Amino acid sequence: MNTSRIPGFYNLPIHERYPTLVQAAGLTLEELPPFEGGLTPEQADHMVENAVGTFSLPLGIALNFIVNGREVLVPMAIEEPSVIAGASFMAKLARAGGGFFATADAPLMIGQIQLLNLPDLPSARLKILEHKAALLTEANEIDPVLKKLGGGARDLEVRIIPDSPIGGFLVVHLIYDVRDAMGANAVNTACEHLAPRLEAISGGKAHLRILSNLADRRLARARCTIPVDELAFGEFSGEEVRDGIIAAWAFAAADPYRAATHNKGILNGVDAVVIATGNDWRAVEAGAHAYAARSGRYTSLSSWGKDAEGNLTGTLEMPLAVGIVGGATKVHPLAKAALKLMGVQTATELAEVIVSVGLAQNLAALRALATEGIQRGHMSLHARQVAIAAGASGDLIERVASQMVAEKVVRIDRAIEILQALSGQTTRNLGDQSRE
Ligand code: MEV
Repeated sequence: MNTSRIPGFYNLPIHERYPTLVQAAGLTLEELPPFEGGLTPEQADHMVENAVGTFSLPLGIALNFIVNGREVLVPMAIEEPSVIAGASFMAKLARAGGGFFATADAPLMIGQIQLLNLPDLPSARLKILEHKAALLTEANEIDPVLKKLGGGARDLEVRIIPDSPIGGFLVVHLIYDVRDAMGANAVNTACEHLAPRLEAISGGKAHLRILSNLADRRLARARCTIPVDELAFGEFSGEEVRDGIIAAWAFAAADPYRAATHNKGILNGVDAVVIATGNDWRAVEAGAHAYAARSGRYTSLSSWGKDAEGNLTGTLEMPLAVGIVGGATKVHPLAKAALKLMGVQTATELAEVIVSVGLAQNLAALRALATEGIQRGHMSLHARQVAIAAGASGDLIERVASQMVAEKVVRIDRAIEILQALSGQTTRNLGDQSRE
C-alpha cells in the first residue's frame, strides 16, 4: 500500500477512480480486478436455494485510514449516503493523532451444547469436567486442516442454567480457535461431533448444538486521539465540538433508546466492510447488540473523553467474528478484491481494520449531531437521489440537486419543477411521483 490519502478522489468521474485506486494501493490492474459485476448467476445458484438473480449495492472506498501505523484503503458496501464520506473525513482527522490503534483477541469462538433430562445438574457438570482433557483431544481431531493451521479446541466450560421455562439444564461451551475463518461451520461440526460423548458422560440428552453469536472471546478494540484543534470548523471551536461529542456519547451511555441509534451508527461502518469482504453481517450485528447489553442494560459500545492536553479520545470494543477464508470471502470476486485492496493477512488484522472504521463512523455521526445536525451532510447525496427519482439524468442530476441544496428544499415536487425549468422536458406525472 502506498497511501490511503487520495486528494480529489471524490471529484473524479467513477471510471477514473479505479486506476487511481490501483495506483494508490501500489497494486497492478491484474492484481486488483475492477469492483464490477460481482457474482455470476451460476455462482449465486451454488450459494443459495431457489436463486433467481443477484442484488448489488454501491461499493465505495473509505480513504485516509491508518491502522496500527499502516495505510489502509477500506472498501465499503452500503446504500446509505454520507457513510463513506463520514468515515474518510474522520480518518483524516485521526491521522493527525497517529490514526487508529487496534488489537483483536485470538479467533476464539464459542460453541454451545444444551444438555437436557439431568436430575442432578451440579454432579453432571463435574462429571463432564472430569473428562475435559479427553473431550478437548477428541474435539481437536475433528478438523485436521484447522489443527494443522494451529487452530482447534482450546477450552471447555460447563454452565448450569438453574431455571428456564422447561426447568434447569446444562450448557457446555466449547472454546474453539477457528484461525482465519469466521468459524460457524467448524464450531457447529465440532459441537455435533461431541454431543454423543457428552450424553454418554452426563446421562443427559444433547439438544441444541450450535455456535453462539455472542463472540465475547473474540473482541476487537480500537482507539484514536483527535487533536482538539482539528475539530474546529465554521463557527464551532475545537473545545465546543469535543465537549459536544462527549455529551452525545454520555446520552448513549445512559439511555438505551439513544444507545441503539448510537450503535447503529458504529455498525454503519462495521457492516459496510463486513459486507464488502463477504462476511456474515447478521452474526456481527447479533454479537454487537448482545455485547452492548452484557451488563443487563443496553449501552454504548464506544466511549469518548479527553486526555490531559484536552484532545478528544475515543475507544470502541466489540465482538467481531469475521474471516478471510471460507463462506463468501473466497467465492465472491468482489470480496476477494476487497481483501486484496486492504492487504490484510489474517482474520485478526481484518477485525482490527473493521473496528477502526466503526470508531471513525461513530465519530462522524456524533460530530455532526453535536454541531450542525445530520441532515446537512446528507443533503447533497440525498438531493441527487431525489433528482434521479424526478427523472433527471446526466448533467441534470447535479444541476437539479445543487439548486435544491442551495434553496434548502429537497423534495420531489421541487425537483420536478427545477427539472422542467432546466430542460423543458416533460417529466413524469407529479401525482405518481409523490406516491413513490
Ligand atoms: C444514521 O444511519 C446513523 C446515525 O443515526 C447514528 C447516530 O445517531 O449516532 C446518524
